[in-house]
Amino acid sequence: MKRLGVNIDHVATLRNARGELHPDPVYAAKYVSKAGADSITIHLREDRRHIKDLDAQKICSIKKLLVNLEISTNSEIVKKALKIKPDFICIVPENRKEITTEGGLDLKKNKINIKKIISKFKSKNIRTSLFINPVLSDIEISKELKTDCVEIHTGRLANLVKAKKNHSYELKRIIQSSKLARKLGIEVHAGHGLDYKTTKLLVKIKEIKEFNIGHYLIGESIFYGLPKVIKNFKKILKS
Ligand code: PXP
Repeated sequence: MKRLGVNIDHVATLRNARGELHPDPVYAAKYVSKAGADSITIHLREDRRHIKDLDAQKICSIKKLLVNLEISTNSEIVKKALKIKPDFICIVPENRKEITTEGGLDLKKNKINIKKIISKFKSKNIRTSLFINPVLSDIEISKELKTDCVEIHTGRLANLVKAKKNHSYELKRIIQSSKLARKLGIEVHAGHGLDYKTTKLLVKIKEIKEFNIGHYLIGESIFYGLPKVIKNFKKILKS
């Protein structure tokens, strides 16, 4: 069964726009889980532009809720994450000026540091994942780094599909990367820019076990409501 992780950062974005307490990401985490999400994703960014430390603490302490905390390799964030103890972490690259995570990690450049971070989380029984581009050499490095999972950045594929451009090469890269990762014993996830159409394309790749979806899912929910949109995505993942 393929799993759906729902990224609720944008609930915090909306709350922060008013500087008040509503809508509450803690309530959203519980609600989304009730509506059928298999896990919740939150990103504790260095600039705290959406999820704040207290949100992350409260969300990670909700019983029976699987929380995937996205973090950069920044040492202050790593320390916070080790203290907050989510169920899963996903290491992502972070650049202050970006609107969202623009690409996968530069594993070659950051190998030593990432390996140390992974071992810290693994020693606390926290599942580790690396957000990477669909490149075979990055899958091989991921194996060396002993991560449990990789999350393949699907942003480029999503942009090509949305622009109605040829996406066959990008899809092939994702398929080959997923197959190699599985062969090496790494669990495969996918995320970034996914909507119904791209999720339908990727669901055919049997190696992908988890989809992490945020912006489109929250955006659609403004019109159709979270339960309905989550149900639609779950239906696609079952197909
Ligand atoms: N996965 C990772 C690692 C991400 O950084 C993000 C964006 O925060 C997502 C998934 C979700 O992407 P989107 O909001 O475009 O669905």
